[in-house]
Amino acid sequence: MTSPLRFDGRVVLVTGAGGGLGRAYALAFAERGALVVVNDLGGDFKGVGKSSLAADKVVEEIKRKGGKAVANYDSVEAGEKVVKTALDAFGRIDVVVNNAGILRDRSFSRISDEDWDIIQRVHLRGSFQVTRAAWDHMKKQKYGRIIMTSSASGIYGNFGQANYSAAKLGILGLANTLAIEGRKNNIHCNTIAPNAGSRMTQTVMPEDLFEALKPEYVAPLVLWLCHESCEENGGLFEVGAGWIGKLRWERTLGAIARQKNQPMTPEAVKANWEKICDFDNASKPQNIQESVAGMIEVLHKIDAEGGVSINHTSHATSTATSGFAGAIGYKLPSFSSAYTEMETIMYALGVGASVKDPKDLKFVYEGSSDFSCLPTFGVIIAQKSMMGGGLAEIPGLSINFAQVLHGEQYLELYKPLPTSGKLKCEAVVADVLDKGSGAVILMDVYSYSGKELICYNQFSLFLVGSGGFGGKRTSEKLKVALDVPSRSPDAVLRDTTSLNQAALYRLSGDWNPLHIDPNFANLAGFEKPILHGLCTFGFSARHVLRQFADNDVSRFKAIKTRFAKPVYPGQTLQTEMWKEGNRIHFQTKVQETGDIVISNAYVDLVPKSDISAKTPSEGGELQSTLVFEEIGRRLKEVGREVVKKVKAVFEWHITKGGDIAAKWTIDLKNESGKVYKGPAKGCADTTIIISDDDFMQVVLGKLDPQKAFFSGRLKARGNIMLSQKLQMILKDYAKL
Ligand code: NAI
Repeated sequence: MTSPLRFDGRVVLVTGAGGGLGRAYALAFAERGALVVVNDLGGDFKGVGKSSLAADKVVEEIKRKGGKAVANYDSVEAGEKVVKTALDAFGRIDVVVNNAGILRDRSFSRISDEDWDIIQRVHLRGSFQVTRAAWDHMKKQKYGRIIMTSSASGIYGNFGQANYSAAKLGILGLANTLAIEGRKNNIHCNTIAPNAGSRMTQTVMPEDLFEALKPEYVAPLVLWLCHESCEENGGLFEVGAGWIGKLRWERTLGAIARQKNQPMTPEAVKANWEKICDFDNASKPQNIQESVAGMIEVLHKIDAEGGVSINHTSHATSTATSGFAGAIGYKLPSFSSAYTEMETIMYALGVGASVKDPKDLKFVYEGSSDFSCLPTFGVIIAQKSMMGGGLAEIPGLSINFAQVLHGEQYLELYKPLPTSGKLKCEAVVADVLDKGSGAVILMDVYSYSGKELICYNQFSLFLVGSGGFGGKRTSEKLKVALDVPSRSPDAVLRDTTSLNQAALYRLSGDWNPLHIDPNFANLAGFEKPILHGLCTFGFSARHVLRQFADNDVSRFKAIKTRFAKPVYPGQTLQTEMWKEGNRIHFQTKVQETGDIVISNAYVDLVPKSDISAKTPSEGGELQSTLVFEEIGRRLKEVGREVVKKVKAVFEWHITKGGDIAAKWTIDLKNESGKVYKGPAKGCADTTIIISDDDFMQVVLGKLDPQKAFFSGRLKARGNIMLSQKLQMILKDYAKL
């Protein structure tokens, strides 16, 4: 059994708690440990008169049952005074249930100014006044739960309740915005439309229904929504008789009834009416961004296509269909981009690799013996290949970039990415899907180093508002996202992103101002600039790599993710991971909000056994092998002398194609010196990393080791000063 939901120490204010629903809430909160403020003006159901009796009776009832409560007799119109009672009695305010209400039912033509005003004042203004008085306290304590009470009369309308309907839906509008503004301070605001027998409904409900719809069947929803463990925010619920349902908005795909450079006419609206009202494939916008996004798309469509003629709606649809179909298989111009170790490191920093974790040094320091490129860097150049304008050129697709959402991402690596190099990308439209509310373009991007295929990306791009063209919903080409297991995760890693995370990440190539420019972010409907989805992707992949592959990049085979919600720089990313053989399922949450931001994701790892089997026979074809062997032979003759001068152990990492191909140790510290294959048996004073070719250049005297060091071709770790003695060691071998 789950543990009971308690409110110990929480201060709960219920307005209009002297009877009906409010009383039921107050009793239920008190029974579960809350300190309750019972507010009630005590007038009649039309808002006439006042009395302290109603609130006092409920306070007494709570105390009789062993609970704690105080009364307040002010009208909710004096919100400050109501909240002050909570602060004076209990020192804080955690929960506000805006419940007080009256009725002044009249058919519309008979509503007096007073009937209109008092309903707005008690319901809408009262909810505003009480909530505003509590708001700053909640913000300061970074905790608050607010309930607004709406009504089916507001949602659907009801004869004789124009004043009440207006106020009740006004309350929902207020709640919608409070849910947005409160979110970052852990203040949640939800709205209920109850159905219960009370003095308010006594005259309108049949008696048996009045008896059956007990306020006690509504209270449990209010308690759950007000509990600290409930993450619901901005929800609207109808509730009564023990049933609870959630409401949302639905919007038809609609129709464009305007053409470029033409006046818009009512006739065009009429001609499109059926389509405007057709709920087939309707979308369910969840926020203002999704709402506004539709308008931007419309402007773009009209501009690009001239708009949909009133007589050509069906024609327009078929053009779109054949246009999309024509796009499939289209290849973007091939694209090449070189990168250096700087880009590799900048990317690693951008996705949160940090010197604070010694195991990350290999991603942020080119001098590390095992300096590596994070596997997810594989998306960077592939993405550049599409952003260079190629997407806009796809025939049949008019892509408005303000409307493109990055839906999903798949990346597969065929070998570890070099820490520097040049990749050539070939991008192709693999398929176009019709998801009703939008179209999904599957872009496959193949990245080659020379002729060798290094990695493959599949970008799923969601074009808001471009769906409904009669295309297929899915594709065999789609790399499918998978549900995470239902058990609790096997491992969880967290990283707090910095406020500069997006500012840093964008230097890797995604310059979209949405991630840096507050004005641009506001225009796109965000409170402030958001983190790149692929940045969160990089964080999550790093977590999996560290947790299950000990940061060994050669074990990273593939990753699939779905981008579910935006992240703001500064938030903490929490990757929850489940191991199932060599597949690590994961999802990423924002710790502060509990929102899942990457869902249905997994990483495939190469089994450990495959890696060791693939390790090349060390140094087999390396030119340097001969040199090391020769140095070993010479040392037998002159070792003692050299040891006296040098007194150091050098470990060599000889690389080929970016990978370490062999390790050698030249011991010029102990006895008469020694050269052997493999890492230093004790501790190396200096570790030198150099490619097989550059090593030969140094040995042949064609490359000065110091110059090689400063140009990054030779890397040294440990006592770097000792590397100055290298020339002395190596120069004799130039003649070999
Ligand atoms: P009720 O009349 O039993 O309770 C409302 C309480 O609010 C009363 O005790 C009243 O004295 C108090 N109140 C009125 N004006 C006040 C003011 N200015 N300041 C402080 N307290 C004041 O009615 P009921 O049914 O319990 O209603 C509670 C809430 O639920 C109301 O907001 C109502 O509009 C809403 N509602 C109720 C439905 C139902 O089926 N009972 C249906 C839809 C909404």
